[in-house]
Amino acid sequence: MLPPLLTLTILLLTTPVTSQACRCTPASPCWPTPQEWTTLNTTLSGNLIATTPLASICHTNSPFSTYSSTSCAALRSTWPLPSTHYTSPSSPMAPWFGTFTCNPFSPPTAPCTLGPLVQNTVNATTVADYITTIRFTQTHNLRLVIHNTGHDYLGKSTGAHALALWTHHLKSIGIIANYTSVGYTGPAIKLGAGVQVIEAMAAAHEEGYVLVAGNCQSVGVADGYSQGGGHGQLASMFGLAADQVLEWEVVTAAGEVVVASPESNPDMYWALSGGGGGVFGAVVSMTSKVHLEVKTVTANLTVSAAGVSPEVFWEVAERFVAGVLDVTDKGGAAIWMVTNQTFEVTPVTVPGGTRGELEGEGFGYTYNIAEFPSFWDTYVEMNPLSNVTEAQIGGRLIPRSTVESNLTAFMGALRAIADYGTAISGVSLNVSRNGVPDNAVNPAWRDSAIDIVLGTTFDYYNRTADLANQKLMTDVLLPMLEELTSDGGAYLNEADIHQPDWQQVFYGDNYARLSAIKQRYDPNEMFYARTGVGSERWTELEDGRLCRVDGV
Ligand SMILES: Cc1cc2nc3c(=O)[nH]c(=O)nc-3n(C[C@H](O)[C@H](O)[C@H](O)COP(=O)(O)OP(=O)(O)OC[C@H]3O[C@@H](n4cnc5c(N)ncnc54)[C@H](O)[C@@H]3O)c2cc1C
Ligand SMILES: *[C@@H]1O[C@H](CO)[C@@H](O)[C@H](O)[C@H]1NC(C)=O
Ligand SMILES: *[C@@H]1O[C@H](CO)[C@@H](O)[C@H](O)[C@H]1NC(C)=O
Ligand SMILES: *[C@@H]1O[C@H](CO)[C@@H](O)[C@H](O)[C@H]1NC(C)=O
Ligand SMILES: *[C@@H]1O[C@H](CO)[C@@H](O)[C@H](O)[C@H]1NC(C)=O
Ligand SMILES: *[C@@H]1O[C@H](CO)[C@@H](O)[C@H](O)[C@H]1NC(C)=O
Ligand SMILES: *[C@@H]1O[C@H](CO)[C@@H](O)[C@H](O)[C@H]1NC(C)=O
Ligand SMILES: *[C@@H]1O[C@H](CO)[C@@H](O)[C@H](O)[C@H]1NC(C)=O
Ligand SMILES: *[C@@H]1O[C@H](CO)[C@@H](O)[C@H](O)[C@H]1NC(C)=O
Ligand SMILES: *[C@@H]1O[C@H](CO)[C@@H](O)[C@H](O)[C@H]1NC(C)=O
Repeated sequence: MLPPLLTLTILLLTTPVTSQACRCTPASPCWPTPQEWTTLNTTLSGNLIATTPLASICHTNSPFSTYSSTSCAALRSTWPLPSTHYTSPSSPMAPWFGTFTCNPFSPPTAPCTLGPLVQNTVNATTVADYITTIRFTQTHNLRLVIHNTGHDYLGKSTGAHALALWTHHLKSIGIIANYTSVGYTGPAIKLGAGVQVIEAMAAAHEEGYVLVAGNCQSVGVADGYSQGGGHGQLASMFGLAADQVLEWEVVTAAGEVVVASPESNPDMYWALSGGGGGVFGAVVSMTSKVHLEVKTVTANLTVSAAGVSPEVFWEVAERFVAGVLDVTDKGGAAIWMVTNQTFEVTPVTVPGGTRGELEGEGFGYTYNIAEFPSFWDTYVEMNPLSNVTEAQIGGRLIPRSTVESNLTAFMGALRAIADYGTAISGVSLNVSRNGVPDNAVNPAWRDSAIDIVLGTTFDYYNRTADLANQKLMTDVLLPMLEELTSDGGAYLNEADIHQPDWQQVFYGDNYARLSAIKQRYDPNEMFYARTGVGSERWTELEDGRLCRVDGV
């Protein structure tokens, strides 16, 4: 007899992928009939949208719409703007997923197909829409995708042949003056799943509050951002966005609406607070702590490598990276970027701080320090708008110990990485100043001084070059940082989609518990996202089909 492990291996190799083992596609007999789609659309009051790729107007043989060179030119000029994509029911921002099969930059004669885009989208506005969508995907064995802004770098908010639940229009915002629970009494904000950073910040500011939210104004709040951890300029002061959450309102795979809080469904609450978007349930709203507005001091800095020796240039970067630890200890945070051309700080922020706390860090370069009456004012004034990230990314959380005891080797690694033409962005922060709440945030965050994100060039015209750059990220660039941070990890929202051992790197020792919670709430694994908890049990085939790896 074969030992059990060997038997399993043979089974794995010889069992063909059967149709039930895969989610249905338009080519499979199990795909819903036109009548079933129509009935669904009626139930949804006409809010079912068949996907038309944005760039279909750029192609003469597109089955979706007619070619227009003027509309295409307009689309090309706005393609880098996040709003082009977050107002679309189906356009993911990550270029790897958003452009190859219907590319606004390819010749008009190039084909336009859906590729990794979803097939249909539900424009949800109510809890009933959520339940209808989830039930329909269960009944018909369809791939379900939850899609909010489409900011996700790892392609988690898109998927071939899928039915998407689009949460963008759930825009309710309520300030709760005195939220009261066993664990917390104080002001809070309740946000619908579609509320974006700038909307939430504006509403909070109007009532004299601030909340932890991302640097990019158009990222969501109650969604992939807070569910995945969520950093920002207030994260040293108050903790990560996931640490602020008081309760989630969520529709489960069983189609039930539940509240997840420390008192109610505490395991769901624990998992949603840091365990990653799109896999445990569909969030309808999130209630989080807000904090009193504070006067804030901010500074920005640009140092060019032109005209100085590389040694002098990298010395400036090194002194900043080391010196800013004092700032993060006081509750400040710094967003910086280095390439082999420039070092920029955009900006460094100390909520509640004064000018004196930032003086002496400009090294004689143009260092603009400004005091603002509120965090809102600095956020609006000093935070450059971000475009869609036209890069392929990878990331690493850098433990404070690496910065403190191995700074020379660390900066040497950054320099070597930059010399490949890579852009390196860093967020220096300390997300454990206020203690560490019991949630699913990757424990590696708590010892980290910097979240590093690397970006290699994305070429809209050359898939071979992009594949080579992905390989460079996984095989060459990230290993240079991993070598110095064996006790580190990566931020699951800003990471390499091909990260080896991603379960440990993205989730740390929380993975086993997250996986068990996932299986309890979602035994049929309706909620799938690339590199999400449980996704190792699924594989995406060449033709886009999503299939169970065990084939049964
Ligand atoms: C330009 C840019 C700037 C960024 N800046 C920051 C930053 O400052 N700080 C930071 O921490 N991160 C930042 N990020 C990363 C950001 O946190 C992730 O991209 C995150 O996934 C965005 O969430 P989203 O819901 O807006 O995007 P989407 O791509 O729509 O969704 C992301 C994931 O969340 C899931 N999801 C969405 N809505 C729900 C819901 N209602 N219920 C359950 N699952 C849901 C989706 O299925 C998907 O898995 C940035 C990204 C970009 C592109
Ligand atoms: C759903 O119904 C609306 C309103 O009748 C219609 O405009 C839309 O095209 C329909 N969606 C699909 C996918 O057929
Ligand atoms: C963002 O894209 C727009 C449109 O292409 C462009 O005008 C703008 O300069 C870009 N902004 C940044 C910060 O790159
Ligand atoms: C989605 O629904 C919202 C709210 O009803 C509506 O304003 C919007 O136009 C719809 N979007 C699309 C693309 O149908
Ligand atoms: C908030 O509610 C708590 C408990 O009900 C109460 O003790 C406290 O005085 C309230 N605070 C404010 C500012 O209303
Ligand atoms: C600093 O921010 C101000 C205000 O946004 C901007 O005008 C200036 O160009 C920035 N300077 C540097 C060096 O980044
Ligand atoms: C510092 O980095 C070097 C080079 O990778 C490594 O050999 C050394 O062990 C590291 N030292 C510490 C204290 O981590
Ligand atoms: C910067 O990176 C580019 C691209 O890899 C490279 O060609 C160049 O030599 C680098 N410059 C320096 C000063 O190292
Ligand atoms: C964060 O700050 C706390 C309190 O000052 C300190 O004990 C801890 O070492 C710091 N951690 C990091 C990762 O900077
Ligand atoms: C595409 O990129 C590859 C790898 O970098 C390169 O060898 C090839 O010449 C490029 N093709 C075109 C058409 O530019």
